[in-house]
Amino acid sequence: MNNFFISLLLPISLSFAAGTNRTIDDGLGDVVTGLQVEYLPLYSPNNTAEPFWKHEDQCDGCAIMPDVTKAFDGTWTATTYVPAIEYMSAGLRFNGTAIYIYLILSNYPANTSLVSRTVCDFRLDGSVVGAFDHEMDGTSNFEYNTLAYSNESLSDEEHIFLIETTGSESSYVVFDYAIYTSVVSENTTFNLFLTLRIAPTTILNIPLILERSPVMQSQASSLAC
Ligand SMILES: *[C@@H]1O[C@H](CO)[C@@H](O)[C@H](O)[C@H]1NC(C)=O
Ligand SMILES: *[C@@H]1O[C@H](CO)[C@@H](O)[C@H](O)[C@H]1NC(C)=O
Ligand SMILES: *[C@@H]1O[C@H](CO)[C@@H](O)[C@H](O)[C@H]1NC(C)=O
Ligand SMILES: *[C@@H]1O[C@H](CO)[C@@H](O)[C@H](O)[C@H]1NC(C)=O
Ligand SMILES: *[C@@H]1O[C@H](CO)[C@@H](O)[C@H](O)[C@H]1NC(C)=O
Ligand SMILES: *[C@@H]1O[C@H](CO)[C@@H](O)[C@H](O)[C@H]1NC(C)=O
Repeated sequence: MNNFFISLLLPISLSFAAGTNRTIDDGLGDVVTGLQVEYLPLYSPNNTAEPFWKHEDQCDGCAIMPDVTKAFDGTWTATTYVPAIEYMSAGLRFNGTAIYIYLILSNYPANTSLVSRTVCDFRLDGSVVGAFDHEMDGTSNFEYNTLAYSNESLSDEEHIFLIETTGSESSYVVFDYAIYTSVVSENTTFNLFLTLRIAPTTILNIPLILERSPVMQSQASSLAC
């Protein structure tokens, strides 16, 4: 007796979710979506021609100047909060499952009377989820690439993230960049081609088992011919 072969074509669908990190630069924005960071307030309360948050190239008269060559993408954006301002923020919008916020810190001694301490809150989709407070150590050194906040358990949807300062403490905030993890899901379908070999012994056994059923018997005989 000859062997029998049964060929099957099975379409298999799989879903992959791959995370990729993307950067939102303080000045260049999100390279992929093109969205820019939104800084508030827009202008200095005393001078509507002067931006309240200043990029490194707008900071001619600024008392504190972080080194641009040590900043991500050669840019930073900074401002000084005083209680009279009441509210300020830097806002990000992204679709992702994780967020990492990087600030530049300064350490001027208190006797310089510069506002050098960094105080801010982190607000995610309307709720405060964290806070940051850096006391200057008096060395006048800058600290670059400081991870001030991270959250790796976001739902995969659009989020609005704010770095904000309110209240009665003065604060110097330098935003350098953020990283978020974007999840791209991809559905792939491929065909699985299977060939089953049925040995003669298997065939010989089938009629013995199926003899009692007339319906099955006709199937068995069609297999045998
Ligand atoms: C994204 O960047 C963060 C911070 O550098 C890192 O901890 C994380 O593993 C990165 N995630 C991916 C998917 O590369
Ligand atoms: C605005 O100008 C007034 C008077 O010069 C000053 O006292 C105040 O601190 C300034 N406000 C800000 C936010 O710079
Ligand atoms: C987030 O994804 C949604 C759906 O694809 C899209 O409409 C929206 O513009 C995205 N938002 C951002 C900030 O990329
Ligand atoms: C200011 O404080 C720093 C650090 O505490 C100190 O080294 C420096 O001598 C002080 N400068 C003045 C003018 O008092
Ligand atoms: C991360 O974000 C979630 C909301 O998606 C929030 O409930 C949680 O407290 C945050 N975790 C941290 C460490 O901030
Ligand atoms: C992948 O398949 C799932 C389930 O059928 C569907 O909800 C999702 O939108 C698909 N994703 C893409 C990128 O086609």
